[in-house]
Amino acid sequence: MQRKQETIWWLRKRDELLKVAGRHLNAYVYDLESIENAARDILSMRSVSRVLYAMKANFNADVLRTLARSGADFDCVSPGEVRHLREVLPDNAKDRILFTPNFAPRDEYEWGIKEGLRVTLDNLYPLKAWPELFDGQRLFIRIDPNQGGGHHEHVVTVGKRSKFGVSLSELDELKYLVGAAGATVIGIHAHSGSGINEPDNWAAVADALIEAADRFADVTVLDLGGGFGVPENRGDVRFDLSALDERLMAFKKQHPKYELWLEPGRYLVAVAGVLLAHVTQLKGKSEMRYVGVSTGMNSLIRPALYGAYHEIVNLTRISDEATETVTVVGPICESGDKLGTDRPFPRSQENDVILIANAGAYGRVMSSSYNLRDIPPEITL
Ligand code: LLP
Repeated sequence: MQRKQETIWWLRKRDELLKVAGRHLNAYVYDLESIENAARDILSMRSVSRVLYAMKANFNADVLRTLARSGADFDCVSPGEVRHLREVLPDNAKDRILFTPNFAPRDEYEWGIKEGLRVTLDNLYPLKAWPELFDGQRLFIRIDPNQGGGHHEHVVTVGKRSKFGVSLSELDELKYLVGAAGATVIGIHAHSGSGINEPDNWAAVADALIEAADRFADVTVLDLGGGFGVPENRGDVRFDLSALDERLMAFKKQHPKYELWLEPGRYLVAVAGVLLAHVTQLKGKSEMRYVGVSTGMNSLIRPALYGAYHEIVNLTRISDEATETVTVVGPICESGDKLGTDRPFPRSQENDVILIANAGAYGRVMSSSYNLRDIPPEITL
């Protein structure tokens, strides 16, 4: 299932990328073939019955169509996501959508139920305050498995400091409220954090969910969420899906009653996307060297928000030796507008094309028009 390490797509397709950069000052470029490959890898796991793409990671229409064609279903977290998905894929069946809002107003649950979506509750509050909505409904419940992690504290979704999920200590109350509302629990859900690289995490999540699942006779699904890490640098090893599959097969052997679902976002799209920009200005300040580029935190907020690392290369001078250490900055009026700090870099010139890697997940979707700068167009290869 794991394909051998191959040259990263954006080196193979450098000429095409330079052509795109000839037409656009800045652009997100998505390689659909890479998305298909990632989807094939995860969909071929023997332990997993369904893969729901967490479309919050990238809602580009071609990306959604590619994933639907590959066999993925969808995790949507807002009515806006569901409506967008329907516009792009009008024939997509309702049962291919899991609707997982968080701290949403009453109306959104009412809407989801009326639309016939599979709805996930991640608090006791809706059952306590609006039990009439859930009478006769078949629900998923998001549990905080108290097992997880993430690349930054903002994306850890377990533990008391995280707002997500019903605590394992609330299972008695959950059981009572579900019964009182006249609902049936058919799935137990968790998402334990983002950017986790240890396959053992999901086996531990599955173990933690059993306690909740076993309380409800009609549960047939354990949705173990997303969060699979991606390589940050070209040489880094990829997430070990076969190891994960093995762990989950062992789990299934012990608990054959349950189907396992996964909900990857980043894994399917991060590496497939790059952000292209052009060098605007160069500057030395004390011992610092700055390479200014034509877009910044407005297009990719991850470095500023999480201190996330994204590989940056000068695509025009890809074969030139790195002779200096530079900080790559955008045009936004904040000192935090840095895409990369202290990077080995070749000597660059105005108008060189700069590529920022791993921008396919949480790039365009978290972009803004801060400083009234344009959001770059999205181009698919
Ligand atoms: N399922 C649920 C319920 C989620 O909340 C998320 C992500 C996922 C699945 C997919 O997680 P993934 O496989 O993409 O890690 N903006 C952050 C990531 C936030 C993730 C939020 N929830 C970043 O740029 O790293």
